[in-house]
Amino acid sequence: MSVRARKAVIPAAGLGTRFLPATKAIPKELLPIVDTPALEYIVAEAAANAVTDVLIVTARGKDAIAEHFDAKPALEEALEAKGSTALLERIRRSSTLARMHYVRQPKAAGLGDAVAHAEGFAGNEPFVVMLGDDLIDERDELLGTMIDVQERLGGIVLGLMQVPGEDISKYGCVAVAPTDEDGIVAISDLVEKPALADAPSDLAIIGRYILPTEIFDALRTTQPGAGGEIQLTDAMRTLALAGVPVHGVVFTGRRYDTGDRLDYLKAVVQLACERPDLGPPFVEWLTQFVQQRA
Ligand code: G1P
Repeated sequence: MSVRARKAVIPAAGLGTRFLPATKAIPKELLPIVDTPALEYIVAEAAANAVTDVLIVTARGKDAIAEHFDAKPALEEALEAKGSTALLERIRRSSTLARMHYVRQPKAAGLGDAVAHAEGFAGNEPFVVMLGDDLIDERDELLGTMIDVQERLGGIVLGLMQVPGEDISKYGCVAVAPTDEDGIVAISDLVEKPALADAPSDLAIIGRYILPTEIFDALRTTQPGAGGEIQLTDAMRTLALAGVPVHGVVFTGRRYDTGDRLDYLKAVVQLACERPDLGPPFVEWLTQFVQQRA
């Protein structure tokens, strides 16, 4: 049995080059999915799974992230005076989800380097890492199961999803064997962004990790890998080969990728369709629009 993870680390130091010029002054993580910043969905997912403390690994020029998760007394008073109760609740939410912590990554040296900046925050407890480009639908279960599995089995636990062969080279990929439990696999090896011919399976790492503190020692000895960056996947591989148990929870629910412009557009449309307030008129309009274009 391990201590249950209750802290989460969210790397958010990237330059957001795929979304320029929008991200010249606005952090990519605050781009809205309908009307809510992508990062708020991630912090809400952490909070919904009993995570109490969230560390954002940020960078210069991204102070707006801390602003978003702070209280805004003047705005709250103005909304209160106008009687805008629903909106008041919506804007208060971000400052009540979790205790927020921030650390700056001086240089964008890769996901592994970003996670290395969480060492002081993690202390001696296993912790969650959540990548902001991967949104998991709040109606579908993943993170809670991963935290349970880590508490029972220790070591590393990863969120995995089957992806089409041509997409595997965009992800970290794992070699797996089945376990006695449905939807949980034992991972024997990991490789970051393999060519299709070298991929050990069609299971991709989807931006949810539970890591033990041993990861920090492994990161210290990890050399730059794919893309010349310090890769978290390589550090996890070091631990796997040293005998640390690594398991994966295979997710079959709804995941929205916001990593590039096309995926971002799809995520906005999908989540807008699901919204009780905007969904019905939006779907009606969208159906007509698509028919006219066909
Ligand atoms: C990162 C990880 C990769 C993982 C992916 C999930 O890659 O390095 O292993 O599969 O996130 O989104 P990135 O998307 O930052 O290139």
